[in-house]
Amino acid sequence: DWTMAAYRDTKIAEIRAQVGDGKVICGLSGGVDSSVAAILIHEAIGAQLTCVFVDHGLLRQNEREQVEAMFRGAYNIPLVVVDAEDRFMAGLAGETDPEKKRKFIGGEFIAVFEEEANRIGGADFLAQGTLYPDVIESVSFTGGPSVTIKSHHNVGGLPERMNMELVEPLRELFKDEVRALGRELGLPDMFVGRHPFPGPGLAIRIPGEVTKERCDILRKADAIYLEEIRNAGLYDAIWQAFAVLLPVKTVGVMGDARTYDNVCGLRAVTSTDGMTADVYPFDAAFLTGCATRIVNEVQGVNRVVYDYTSKPPGTIEWE
Ligand code: XMP
Repeated sequence: DWTMAAYRDTKIAEIRAQVGDGKVICGLSGGVDSSVAAILIHEAIGAQLTCVFVDHGLLRQNEREQVEAMFRGAYNIPLVVVDAEDRFMAGLAGETDPEKKRKFIGGEFIAVFEEEANRIGGADFLAQGTLYPDVIESVSFTGGPSVTIKSHHNVGGLPERMNMELVEPLRELFKDEVRALGRELGLPDMFVGRHPFPGPGLAIRIPGEVTKERCDILRKADAIYLEEIRNAGLYDAIWQAFAVLLPVKTVGVMGDARTYDNVCGLRAVTSTDGMTADVYPFDAAFLTGCATRIVNEVQGVNRVVYDYTSKPPGTIEWE
């Protein structure tokens, strides 16, 4: 795509002009946006960039390993991976309010990030994979009167606190354009086409209290659901699909024994920008297959339900 090749060259020149010989730090989430931003900036300024990946224990199955393999292996970009599961789980203990969970995670993320920035002697610039819809959405989420539906997790507040300037090379782009740019930069299709994943991670897919045990249960159910979706060839037709773990136990029967276990919800939507979304209409046999596998293979789940709510009135994530 010649347009994206030109865009890439323009942005590389702009990044070099903005950054000079300064140091840039970039937080990776494992998602497409921050990855594309990091790879582009690395192409522009090489070793002046430090990438930090915070493992808050709220990641999907194998997510950390995939990010490590891609950055260190495929791109040879040095990556600082911070093991922060314990402090995130400790801070989330006992918290059930969705906004307080989000605020804690956002604040703790900033604290970890700040520590890592100090460890490398500080940075002059903070790189973020902010897209055009993020710019709009933070102005007014609903398009109506400005009201906060959810506190979105990003590193807002950090630049002023640490006296850093922002580098946001994707600010003019929509998601599909970022994906095209990612392909231009040699990112594998499998990575470029990944479904969006929220900064607060699995915490907002576990209504009620988040614990490591509940994250482990959810990770297993989610991996099975996504594997079924990939096997059915449906992954690319869906904007986002994931499992949620409900704070509800129900009675079931396995073999000839009574069970009393958690309910797992499945969500899948189509969308172009995440602002509105329609439910993905799986056929019943597909969902039955997922439910059977999840109940059989995931200890701690004995019932599976499908979420039929569009956005609006539902949001995509459950918190
Ligand atoms: P909602 O749940 O508000 O989500 O309909 C819309 C889109 O945004 C993602 N999302 C987030 N992404 N940080 C992010 O980076 C967040 O705090 C956050 N909350 C929601 C969500 O996954 C969906 O794609």
